[in-house]
Amino acid sequence: MARITLRQLLDHAAEHDYGVPAFNINNMEQALAIMAAASALDAPVIIQASRGARQYANDVMLKHMMDACVEIYPQIPICVHQDHGNSAATCFTAMLAHLGGISVEGEFGVLGSLETGMGEKEDGHGFEGKLSHDQLVTNPDDAVKFVKETKVDALAIAMGTSHGAYKFSRKPDGAILAMNVIEEIHQKMPGLHMVMHGSSSVPQELQDIINAYGGKMPQTWGVPVEEIQRGIKHGVRKINIDTDNRMAITGAIRKVFAESPSEFDPRKYLKPATEAMTRICRQRLEEFGTAGQASKIKKVFTLGEMAKRYASGELDPKAA
Ligand code: G3H
Ligand code: 13P
Ligand code: ZN
Repeated sequence: MARITLRQLLDHAAEHDYGVPAFNINNMEQALAIMAAASALDAPVIIQASRGARQYANDVMLKHMMDACVEIYPQIPICVHQDHGNSAATCFTAMLAHLGGISVEGEFGVLGSLETGMGEKEDGHGFEGKLSHDQLVTNPDDAVKFVKETKVDALAIAMGTSHGAYKFSRKPDGAILAMNVIEEIHQKMPGLHMVMHGSSSVPQELQDIINAYGGKMPQTWGVPVEEIQRGIKHGVRKINIDTDNRMAITGAIRKVFAESPSEFDPRKYLKPATEAMTRICRQRLEEFGTAGQASKIKKVFTLGEMAKRYASGELDPKAA
């Protein structure tokens, strides 16, 4: 099946009422962890790289890791995504890695906390200081107008989620996680594929593992899985998750270091770390209904791919 565009994947997800987690990668272990989960569950998956990941790992390394995922797991539809393309340069250099079949995710509203009013630099909006409630919650009418005017393939919505582990100081309710916005936008534009950024659930058990083995994470709350599932019922199709995987990796590494302080072979702590990340990925793929969908997706070739297939002799031009 190989690569799939965001549009094709989210159209399939909408047709079959499921959501697709978009997992961030920065290194080989994360790529392997995601693919082990996706392949075990016959699930399509979105792998995304942030600007930070591209700086950390180098574009060439990331491109080849993503190509390796396709080569090792040809049966799994993989969508490769630029996470937070803040400028034309970021987007164009990401496209160089794979010309043709490019979908666009827009973002409308400012991601940030409805508890503190603080926004985030990751979005590239460059806002410093407190934001108003109106800025932090996407206006449904404006969002619909934006999608009609720009024709983006998917739209990220601001409704109180934020990146990282410290999203909420208590289990979130409607006052600080405005899921009603998702429902309102879905009512106004049922065909729109919505994206939830900052959607790690920051599981208590991962906080406990990290803290049990020398970490010092203050108590915090993420986005409850049941709220994401509610979103999926109302048009959320892409769910961005990075922090949960970082926490799974960190907890597992801390455990090895605490229990075997003489250990110095990276494979001895990276293997359990990769397995811990795979467990989280599997959980989300099951919870979002992504499991079991990979083999149901029919590959739609882009024009560029069709041209390559004819050029390579895979397709016979005389038979066309
Ligand atoms: O957008 C947020 C993701 O968690 C990526 O984070 O910019 O530190 O790579 P990063
Ligand atoms: P988390 O920090 O909640 O995992 O969000 C990741 C994200 O939104 C990447 O774009
Ligand atoms: Zn994000």
